[in-house]
Amino acid sequence: MQIQFEAQPFSSVSADAIVTYVFDKDSRVEGAVTELDRATGGRIKSLSDSGELTGKSLEMTLLHFPAGIAAQRLLLIGAGKPEKFSNASLRHISGAAVRYLKSRGVKHFAFLPGEKERTPAAAQAIVEGLLHAEYESDKYQTDKKNTKAIARVSLLGFSAGARGEIDAAVDRGKIIGESQNFARDLINEPSNHLTPRMLAAKAEAMAKEAGLEIDILDEKRITELKMGALLGVAQGSEEPPRLIVVRYRPAQKKPGAPVLGLVGKAVTFDTGGISIKPADGMEKMKYDMGGGATMLGAIRALARLKPSIEVMAVVPATENMPGGRAQKPGDVQIAMSGKSIEVINTDAEGRLILADAITYAKKLGCTHLVDAATLTGAIMVALANINVGAFGTPREFLDRLLESARATGEKMWPMPIDDEYEEMIKSNIADIRNTGSGKGGGAITAAWFLKEFAEDTPWVHLDIAGTAWLEESKPYAAKGPTGVAIPTLIDFAMKMS
Ligand code: BES
Ligand code: ZN
Ligand code: ZN
Repeated sequence: MQIQFEAQPFSSVSADAIVTYVFDKDSRVEGAVTELDRATGGRIKSLSDSGELTGKSLEMTLLHFPAGIAAQRLLLIGAGKPEKFSNASLRHISGAAVRYLKSRGVKHFAFLPGEKERTPAAAQAIVEGLLHAEYESDKYQTDKKNTKAIARVSLLGFSAGARGEIDAAVDRGKIIGESQNFARDLINEPSNHLTPRMLAAKAEAMAKEAGLEIDILDEKRITELKMGALLGVAQGSEEPPRLIVVRYRPAQKKPGAPVLGLVGKAVTFDTGGISIKPADGMEKMKYDMGGGATMLGAIRALARLKPSIEVMAVVPATENMPGGRAQKPGDVQIAMSGKSIEVINTDAEGRLILADAITYAKKLGCTHLVDAATLTGAIMVALANINVGAFGTPREFLDRLLESARATGEKMWPMPIDDEYEEMIKSNIADIRNTGSGKGGGAITAAWFLKEFAEDTPWVHLDIAGTAWLEESKPYAAKGPTGVAIPTLIDFAMKMS
């Protein structure tokens, strides 16, 4: 998809369609819409008066061969209530335009934002939405469903003088959208096509292309480093584990500058191990590497956006299988940090592999940590598939990440991590246990387990189990992997520098 700045007035743009949006309020015909209404001889106003055009969020109204403009179609998309409008709404609107028009064979459309949204930040959001919506996975289908494509999108309405700024924003939007789609491709891969070794190979190819350093630790080095928690999970599988470390170093590193570690859970398939999961729905556990893919996607984008701080992605990759050598409930594993862990449930494996990855990230010099993981079913009980559960200490560090989430329009919600919860992961035989005792708070005890390894390092944990995978398609997104948290992490890293 080619995206270009277009200085021509909208009425003379000869695209297959012009797209704009209409708010859900009494005076729906205003600003850019007024101009279009005038050009089309009052067609929009009459649709609004008749009640057909309401402006309700993502309502689609398509006019064919509208008089007064050169384009063949005019698509009006509902923008919802103006007080709820954000960059996220813009992403959804531009994305919905792609999916709606693509299915109707449109190849080139022009997007006209409202007057208030003719800013670089808005242009970036629009482009992110376009690329995100373009994504569809049909790699393993011989009868390809994604044959139609939008070849070109023109951005209208921006002032000619702002061209340089807008072009830069378009580039940023592309980098972020493409990196999300890179992560979504990884997450879509079935586990027989994406073992830990294959994931490492894909990370290596990405690093080479992006100009990033990469170090892939094999089972021998993982053993030498005494990563007993990661090895405990991996021992049930024929496939050896990998620990993938991808590093971005700024051209000039300031002494004492922070080093951000992005730690991502990559269980390429989670059977649950000996505490095996029910068969129903188990196929979805190929997406249990979603946190790792998120961090690889984020650092891929950062390689191009070039923050002034050092960033590294630390991705422990393994299968969780119930093989003959698998760890068993009651086993005690010694993590790299020296802490002993009683494995109560082998299905609580994510926290085990993250424990060693967090310790290793600190060893490599990370001063600040963010982890992302499809960690618990409990986070879905708490927040459904709407919000990412965000935990962290100190609170001020978590708040900064939540601020980035707000800025990018991603939904994340702060979860508690009071000291009282620590009691629930005390073990009778080891230092800690890998599940909470007692009832409830499963997402919180999982977070507390990670905190035992992050210790005093400022740390945020994002539980993306509910949000990394979309069960049903949306007007602006295919079903399947969402690429959630990548825009937030990029914004966060850029603001840290
Ligand atoms: N990978 C799962 C969490 C998960 C569940 C992700 C559903 C996406 C969808 C994780 O490893 C797991 O199995 N967690 C257990 C922990 C429990 C045994 C304490 C869970 O949440 O049930
Ligand atoms: Zn599990
Ligand atoms: Zn898991």
